[in-house]
Amino acid sequence: MTFAETIARLEKKTRILLPKINPSLASRIFSSGRKYFLKLFYSDDINFKIEPPESLKKKLWDIEFRSGLFNAAGMFKNGEAYYLTYKQGAGAYLAGTTTSNERIGNIKNNILHPFVAYPNSGAASNWMGLPNLGNEKVAKVISQFEKFQGFPIGISLSLAPQIPFDLAMNDLIAGMEMFDKAGVDFIELNESCPNVPHSSSNKFPLLDSQMIDRLSFVSERFLKKRNRNLPVIVKFSCDTSLELLPELLRVIIDSHFDGVNFGNTSTDYDNSREIISLKDSKLFDYFTTIFGGGISGKPLKEKSLALSAFATDFVSKMNTKSEFHVIRTGGIFDENDIKISSSYNILLNQWFTGYFEAFSKFGHHLYDKIYKKIT
Ligand SMILES: Cc1cc2nc3c(=O)[nH]c(=O)nc-3n(C[C@H](O)[C@H](O)[C@H](O)COP(=O)(O)O)c2cc1C
Repeated sequence: MTFAETIARLEKKTRILLPKINPSLASRIFSSGRKYFLKLFYSDDINFKIEPPESLKKKLWDIEFRSGLFNAAGMFKNGEAYYLTYKQGAGAYLAGTTTSNERIGNIKNNILHPFVAYPNSGAASNWMGLPNLGNEKVAKVISQFEKFQGFPIGISLSLAPQIPFDLAMNDLIAGMEMFDKAGVDFIELNESCPNVPHSSSNKFPLLDSQMIDRLSFVSERFLKKRNRNLPVIVKFSCDTSLELLPELLRVIIDSHFDGVNFGNTSTDYDNSREIISLKDSKLFDYFTTIFGGGISGKPLKEKSLALSAFATDFVSKMNTKSEFHVIRTGGIFDENDIKISSSYNILLNQWFTGYFEAFSKFGHHLYDKIYKKIT
């Protein structure tokens, strides 16, 4: 067992104590402990290589994915753990979210990147604020990756917050061009980070009009000018209203995007609270009141399924001219979630909270465990 695996296992056992201590202290301990763990995790190496079973292979947008399960954005913001993820057997690799400039991320009450887990609920809250090294540095890291068959590389990009529209949009396009040159296979546009100003909400009854302006800018300045196969997917919040989906999907498809991802963390605290265990509710109330932030994990399971299933069905009836696919993110924990996704024709799934939950149980064999159960 590697050191990171041992730490993850121990952390899982002691995590249960978090809701029993003062919530401010719990948030502090978890946020800094996570940084220590990630350092170990990113530099971990393994002496085996999992090859997903042939039957899980998919070809989407003319790109081969050796399986339909891979990490969600935010796990490898600066291009960390690429070779490790490949050896673990992931179906693809997604770096980012990056922005045009380096960002330190959020700090409050002396906590840098506030993050806490709800151990009895399979959920977590984070208020990270998009810390990252910036497009240029991360594009350089990615440009040096060795490429592997069936293991596409994606980058999640976002508009830099608090910068005037034209400037920020020009920087975003410049970032997309940098990653194009760096050789990524697909781009995910993060339209939904709840932890910085500007993210779209798309809650009923109206589509966010500024978001539509942003998307049409990207369409004119990047999508229509692509000279190679480089799908661009838009990632929305799991709080997106189902009623708005037909209109939203039409806008996305008409603007020449190639897919959507449902989605990002939730700020619908009332709804999530119903799924949070009573044992975690004091910690949940503390974190969401003091930091706000986005909720991940089990409270998103039904939402991500409902949105992705609706979108898949809607798009299949639209007879789009080019390929358009839906990615499901939110509450993916095990083979059952993947099976349910595929029963609705959702072919790609990303995981974050469930990934680390599985890592604490199965270590670097986490993909293999799932593959064995779905084949
Ligand atoms: C600590 C943390 C950081 C995240 N950072 C990003 C990010 O940079 N970009 C993004 O699009 N989503 C980010 N997310 C959201 C995840 O990609 C994912 O959409 C969300 O956690 C729901 O999936 P899950 O239930 O499997 O965790 C982050 C989530 C967490 C927990």
